[in-house]
Amino acid sequence: MILQMEPWFGEEEKKEILSYLDEGGWFTEFKRTEKFENLLAEFTSAKHCIVFNNGTISLTLAAISGDIGPGDEVIVPNYSMIATPNSVKMLGAIPVFVDVEPETLCLDISKVKEAMTSKTKAIIFVNANGRNPTYPIENLLNLCKEYKLFLIEDSAQSLGSRYPDGVHQGLKGDVGSFSFSAPKIISTGQGGCLITNNDEIAFKLRRLKDFGRSGGGNDIHDWIGYNFKFTELQACVGIAQMAKLSWRIERKKQIYSKYKKYLENTKGINLFSQDIVNTTPWFIDCIAEQRNKLQDFLKTKNIGTRIMYPPINQQKAYQVEGSFPTSELIGQRGLWLPSASQITDSQIEFICESINEFYENS
Ligand SMILES: Cc1ncc(COP(=O)(O)O)c(C=O)c1O
Repeated sequence: MILQMEPWFGEEEKKEILSYLDEGGWFTEFKRTEKFENLLAEFTSAKHCIVFNNGTISLTLAAISGDIGPGDEVIVPNYSMIATPNSVKMLGAIPVFVDVEPETLCLDISKVKEAMTSKTKAIIFVNANGRNPTYPIENLLNLCKEYKLFLIEDSAQSLGSRYPDGVHQGLKGDVGSFSFSAPKIISTGQGGCLITNNDEIAFKLRRLKDFGRSGGGNDIHDWIGYNFKFTELQACVGIAQMAKLSWRIERKKQIYSKYKKYLENTKGINLFSQDIVNTTPWFIDCIAEQRNKLQDFLKTKNIGTRIMYPPINQQKAYQVEGSFPTSELIGQRGLWLPSASQITDSQIEFICESINEFYENS
């Protein structure tokens, strides 16, 4: 079976974990975690990087660091992983859904203002599939500045993606969030991090994750904090994965180019376009006619696919009225094709031949 996505761990991860075990550490976050944070900070050129146990809690803590609380409204895209709105719902804040751009699946800035009220406190901008929006991100920064809104970049899908000026995604807003869950370009099983150039936010985040301690390991608590710490075992895996990141970024770009080449003239399927100079496609996403039939057909050939996120406003958990044409279209026809870094060229060819066969015969 060619899976739509799978993590990729090898001997290097095993070696890191075994060498840590030989040293006899305490497992809880310490030097290895610091090293993983430093590698991420160096890769993104962020002043601060703080890791957490996942990329949902990192968003929640980002919102707390921006003083978002009960009753505050937070603008979120209606197309995203459900974790984006849930992260602020957890604080009693109210996610307000805005549709996304049809070209990039990023927040449609032309619709943001009409969703804003006097209660709007923040925006979570999602770099969907590592994409940049069609508008300069500075337009969103200016809007946030004008209305004093806290800007969180949910860059969970974006490690390896930069804005056209070379700044890594996640570093334009107040704070940027990443995920290391199993399907991400690098994984620690579960895991997430926040990057920021703001010293005050970084200070708050470090306290929030460690019981509000005033210093490492003591029992003096000057702030309210919780426990969202990492483990050294995850950090060992993360360190080994970071050594593979540059290769995986290049491979993801090649994978995208190959799909594009083989499916360019296929009637029935449209790949979303992606700027592979600046950004790294996380998944191969497309709009597919007869999506469910195509999915079933590919399954008979042992090819796994995944239906893209449904519009969040229509999820039973939310049920919010409104018209969101782009996220609704994705909900009806959006499909992710096999996208793991370890997929081979001949597998991509086979997948595309199978897709072409389906549309030629239907
Ligand atoms: C855009 C987005 N935000 C947040 C998350 C949540 O990350 P995690 O699974 O690490 O909690 C994901 C995970 O897929 C995501 O894609």
